[in-house]
Amino acid sequence: MHCTLMNKNTPVVKLQIDDDTSAIVKITEALELAYLPIGIDFKSGIPNKKELNEWWFSRSIPASRSGIREALEELNVSHTEQLLARCYGLSLSDQYWMKPDHTTLKWSDINFFDHSFSDDVGNILFGQPAENEIIDLMSPCNTSDGWLKKKWKIIDGKRCLIKAGSNPYMQEPLNEVYATKLHERLGCTNYVSYTLLWDNGMPYSVCENFINTDTELVSAISINKSMKKRSQNSTYDHFIQACEWLGIPHMSEFLNYLLVFDYLIANTDRHFGNFGVIRNVETLEWIGAAPVFDSGTSLWHNKLTKVIHAYDETESKPFYAKQSKQMGLITDFEWIPFDNLKNIKEDLYEVFKQSEFMDEQRIEVIGNAITERVQQLQEFVMERKHRM
Ligand SMILES: Nc1ncnc2c1ncn2[C@@H]1O[C@H](COP(=O)(O)OP(=O)(O)OP(=O)(O)O)[C@@H](O)[C@H]1O
Ligand SMILES: [Mg+2]
Repeated sequence: MHCTLMNKNTPVVKLQIDDDTSAIVKITEALELAYLPIGIDFKSGIPNKKELNEWWFSRSIPASRSGIREALEELNVSHTEQLLARCYGLSLSDQYWMKPDHTTLKWSDINFFDHSFSDDVGNILFGQPAENEIIDLMSPCNTSDGWLKKKWKIIDGKRCLIKAGSNPYMQEPLNEVYATKLHERLGCTNYVSYTLLWDNGMPYSVCENFINTDTELVSAISINKSMKKRSQNSTYDHFIQACEWLGIPHMSEFLNYLLVFDYLIANTDRHFGNFGVIRNVETLEWIGAAPVFDSGTSLWHNKLTKVIHAYDETESKPFYAKQSKQMGLITDFEWIPFDNLKNIKEDLYEVFKQSEFMDEQRIEVIGNAITERVQQLQEFVMERKHRM
């Protein structure tokens, strides 16, 4: 199929897609390369085909998504990549799409921000059988990332992402809601607010889309790719330098916040796909760090209650594998409102006690663990001040 990769209304490159594999097999013409996804090299005047394919396939649902095998069977497709073309590659996290050359379609005719979409794919991804004989595959769920079961749904006119939890405690949705309360206590203004939804006895987190028709989420993965890493640079230095080179402001302050926040909740999964930056897709102006999202893989969510110890070393991402080492990257602690962190376990009780998957002892142990984390953070800050 001959197509044009579009960024909202801007034609970016003309290319050819293989109908069977959805792979980009040929790039035929470069049009507006400044509007390419961040991180794709185009020094030779034509975008790097391998990198463009990686980006294109990374828009499909990851093969590791919980329950994907059964969903694909129900959808009658063999690979998640095949779903991309069914929705023109459109997403609710950015404005890229593939316009088939034989159509006169415009972005305004089909985007998911202004047009409603069927719940068919979302429901099937959640393990429900198809309601209609003909499944409507035009869905932003086809381009959603991450391993947890999730779906986009329009609730009261708003595009919302609904995410499930994982066995045995189904704790991730509760963690997202607790994280929301902790952001408030920390005085953060740039976070995604999550609420709880119960369906058939199962907890889900719900959040509104933080992207609108003029913006896109650029992941830290793409930012890292925008510059070649010098071997002498640490992962942290490379990321900061890439941000500076692209002209993205205030990222070290943002990371100071994120690292402290992740420390408090013992987040083990802040990989480079779990934070990013927002860019205006019309002007290409950088707006700043994306609001903090996806904090559910935390609070010892997959640990048996008896092995939860606040003082144990926690594995971490994205800069160092150990949280104690990653904390060394923080350049400013002055902003931490320790006074607001008293009794933080009360917020946790309030959220966790709603779930039958959490027994009282577990709630108590996790509540005590975060209280200890605050103390530990305070000791760490004092020690750092002493050394300076
Ligand atoms: N509120 C939102 N608005 C726009 N895009 C979002 C929003 N929340 C998440 N996304 C996009 O959806 C992707 C998947 O969401 P999320 O990271 O919350 O899922 P996950 O399954 O927990 O991911 P992981 O595999 O990292 O655990 C994100 O990487 C981001 O690109
Ligand atoms: Mg994620």
